[in-house]
Amino acid sequence: MAFKERVFSGVQPTGNLHLGNYLGAITKFVALQDNYDCIYCVVDMHAITVWQDPAELTRNTREVTAAFIAAGIDPKKHIVFNQSQVAEHAELAWVFNCVARMGWLNRMTQFKEKAGKDRENASIGLYAYPSLMAADILIYRATHVPVGEDQKQHLELARDIAQKFNNDYAKSIEAHGFGEAFFPQPEPLIQGPATRVMSLRDGTKKMSKSDPSDYSRINLTDDADAIAQKVRKAKTDAEPLPGEEKGLEARPEADNLVGIYAALADTGKADVLREFGGAQFSAFKAALVDLSVAKLGPIGAEMKRLVNDSAYIDQVLADGADRARAIAAENMKAVKDIVGFVRR
Ligand code: AMP
Ligand code: TRP
Repeated sequence: MAFKERVFSGVQPTGNLHLGNYLGAITKFVALQDNYDCIYCVVDMHAITVWQDPAELTRNTREVTAAFIAAGIDPKKHIVFNQSQVAEHAELAWVFNCVARMGWLNRMTQFKEKAGKDRENASIGLYAYPSLMAADILIYRATHVPVGEDQKQHLELARDIAQKFNNDYAKSIEAHGFGEAFFPQPEPLIQGPATRVMSLRDGTKKMSKSDPSDYSRINLTDDADAIAQKVRKAKTDAEPLPGEEKGLEARPEADNLVGIYAALADTGKADVLREFGGAQFSAFKAALVDLSVAKLGPIGAEMKRLVNDSAYIDQVLADGADRARAIAAENMKAVKDIVGFVRR
């Protein structure tokens, strides 16, 4: 059965939006607007799976919203909202908690990483996180999900949940006139030279909000001086840049910087190496600073302007939530009928 094509993705309001979020996710969100109906969500309910200071959570929710808009997402043509304003996410997540199996969730590497050694002390929310994520996507019956490489496993779980729901309730789905399947199999969109941006200090570690060293990442709100300093201090090796992509193998730091350059310039690594092959890192880094400042500077400035206008941001979120809720409510009604919940 053919589902209406729709894009959904989410970003957690947990502070320090960085170049990895921007290149791995937000630039993709922007590009998809021309060809799809898109829903972009600030996932505040996912954020509280680990402790968040309430005032910071509010501030970060507005900051992610500002980043979406500053990067070029149009909240009038598409939908931008925060998750907690549409209760159907949590409602469907409960149904999915009863569809997903413990064994599936036990395999999630993000849970293992985030829970660390003290697993007994992790929240139940952190464990059930992928089930809420599946609900985020499927409450809109979204078909395409742009994310960074680190979310691939969660997307596969969302597909498994959709399939098991469709199978378990096949008779009821058919009986209620929804044909063979109620939920689509959402497709991950993970493409381009920067699906996994690495730390500037260690090319084998993912660039992350939670790295204690601010030098490991470029934040979207960094000014030109900070960007320049961080790029200049970025770890490299002693060799000049290779002329071909094969030469980046076993050189994680070089590979990362070339990937960042390629993504910012909207080309591929091969093109970047055609230009910079044989160059020393000093020259390449100078070019990378210029490119980064040119691309990120205006976005950071616009973000700062927007976060000062919290009335505007909150209005965007409320308006987006109203439009999201209209779609979600209709699908939730159908799920209730399919599951056999009595409703008015
Ligand atoms: P989060 O803020 O953890 O909700 O992540 C938001 C989006 O950014 C997700 O699609 C992630 O896959 C993506 N992302 C986070 N870190 C990176 C990274 N280092 N490289 C590429 N994408 C990333
Ligand atoms: N788990 C995602 C992350 O940490 C955020 C997220 C929540 C998401 N719900 C989603 C991404 C739905 C895509 C679709 O990056």
